[in-house]
Amino acid sequence: MLNYQIAPSLLSADFARLGEEAERVLAAGGDLLHLDVMDQHFVPPLTVGPLVCRALRKHGIKAPIDVHLMARPVDSLITEFAKAGASSISFHPECSDHIDRSMTLIQSQGCKVGLALNPATPLSTLDHLLDRLDFILIMSVNPGFAGQPFLPSAIDKIKKTRALIEKTGRQITLAVDGGIKADNIAKVAAAGADTFIAGSAIFEQPDYAAAITALRTALQGVPYE
Ligand code: DX5
Ligand code: ZN
Repeated sequence: MLNYQIAPSLLSADFARLGEEAERVLAAGGDLLHLDVMDQHFVPPLTVGPLVCRALRKHGIKAPIDVHLMARPVDSLITEFAKAGASSISFHPECSDHIDRSMTLIQSQGCKVGLALNPATPLSTLDHLLDRLDFILIMSVNPGFAGQPFLPSAIDKIKKTRALIEKTGRQITLAVDGGIKADNIAKVAAAGADTFIAGSAIFEQPDYAAAITALRTALQGVPYE
């Protein structure tokens, strides 16, 4: 049985009350916070920079903050987010000219390193990198927006990613981002995912604890060994 983690994505939170929202969702049972960084080039929206990550730390947030970079170039952002209190940083390989170097940069800042793969980005992108990755983030929507439906093709990709991870014999977290709801999370877990990033499924509910409990309840008895 894998150690399942629920990572609320702040993209769907009320940004006017972000500190409070972060506290509330952690108190409701979120394991870590997922922060989506979008640059209006790699993806259409423009979201937040390191200043917001720092503000969350200053507000008193102690939980891990997982920064998902959908922005290019990544290297300067990596350094800034690490200084601003990020615990883990993932980026899309399309956002770096030198993927290995960007990964080294993340690790040198003391952060966990992850690669985020778009629905059409092949798993072969992971070749030569698996021995150093702390986590892999499989996108189950095209990045940019909360509230999109889960793409069914992600299931096979998650299964294949889990098989690649098993072959390494290393502990690599397999996170899935996009369209995760209480009615599909069990299938995603059965395919081999262990970390579930969820925005609208949590923040669009009035009771965050009930929303997170619904996700956890759906994970009980998942037939993955
Ligand atoms: C989308 C982001 C996601 C987003 C997920 O590009 O990377 O983290 O917040 O939102 P939901 O869970 O609503 O699909
Ligand atoms: Zn994300």
